[in-house]
Amino acid sequence: MGLRVAVFASGGGSNFEALVKNAEHYSIELLVSNRSDIGALKRAERLGIQAHVINPTTFNTQSLYIDKVIHLLKEKHINHIALAGYLAKIPSQLIAEFSGLILNIHPSLLPRFGGKGFYGKHVHHAVIEAKECVSGATVHIVDEEYDTGPILLQESIPVLEDDTPDSLALKILAIEHKIYPKSLNLIGQERVKLHNGHITILPD
Ligand code: GRF
Repeated sequence: MGLRVAVFASGGGSNFEALVKNAEHYSIELLVSNRSDIGALKRAERLGIQAHVINPTTFNTQSLYIDKVIHLLKEKHINHIALAGYLAKIPSQLIAEFSGLILNIHPSLLPRFGGKGFYGKHVHHAVIEAKECVSGATVHIVDEEYDTGPILLQESIPVLEDDTPDSLALKILAIEHKIYPKSLNLIGQERVKLHNGHITILPD
């Protein structure tokens, strides 16, 4: 059946688009968003990818929300989830159901500048404040904690003296657009092995 991926996004969706456009060994079947007013939905329409808005705050109970998401994913035969700027919490039941099969992209060199509160511009502000000389992006497998799961790919860039959070964000976004599709292509080629919380990438 191959690698059938649902992307979860809450924002502009540039990673979502990069994932769609660079899919060689996987297919993006679905976009799931928790908001109805975001750029990612417009991109889905333009790219011809089915999109669903599922807002956890509109369900009476969390279990109704989880049932809805899991039902949708099963119906579309989704076997991997790629979080791409998804700002709602992923319920632990979904993490358990898709154990080792949910990826996230983070705009820093994890474990540096990860965890609660480190999202969007906050990350790049913190990197500059700390006078770091490198930063970058990380693709990792999602576990129960924020940004702590096994790391699949990372790429770094120098932080220059005149960098601002905005300039850093732009440069790192360009890296994200490379390493996120690359990660999924590696998984699609069955070259990623997860064992005891560590990832090994097999040669081509
Ligand atoms: C990216 O910087 C990603 O690392 C972070 O959220 C941002 C999403 O950007 N998790 P976009 O919506 O893909 O353009």
